[in-house]
Amino acid sequence: MDNRELLNKALDVIKYSYSPYSHFPLGVALLTKSGKVYTGTNIENASYGLTICAERVAMFKAISEGERSFSKIVIVDKDGKGVPPCGACRQVMVEFSPDMEILLYSPEKDSFEIFKASEMLPISFSLEVKDE
Ligand code: THU
Repeated sequence: MDNRELLNKALDVIKYSYSPYSHFPLGVALLTKSGKVYTGTNIENASYGLTICAERVAMFKAISEGERSFSKIVIVDKDGKGVPPCGACRQVMVEFSPDMEILLYSPEKDSFEIFKASEMLPISFSLEVKDE
């Protein structure tokens, strides 16, 4: 699964975003280390704080099906522009796969900027209990 295929999957899924409040639909495609792809969109609610980000939707779908290790994630808006993940999503990424790559596509440059989750959330919170 190359980066452009992941980008296309992230773009494809944006149509399922439920974002009537922000009008900021997002799509993601998450590649697990086992080679599976999970997609996600943001899902909003009239009680705004219940909104869940596209990244966590994809990660929680994967985790709930037995996946624990992520290789990379593409996050895009409807114009195909990469969107950096929020702090809460970074914390979830670091919990499961600090070395996973976050791919931010630039339509202008037609290229990806790549960051590691641990680099995007340095000195993150941890209880150092990871073996459950
Ligand atoms: N959002 C995400 O889906 N991911 C992020 O990393 C940041 C924000 C969503 C939440 C909300 O539906 C909309 O973007 C505007 O904040």
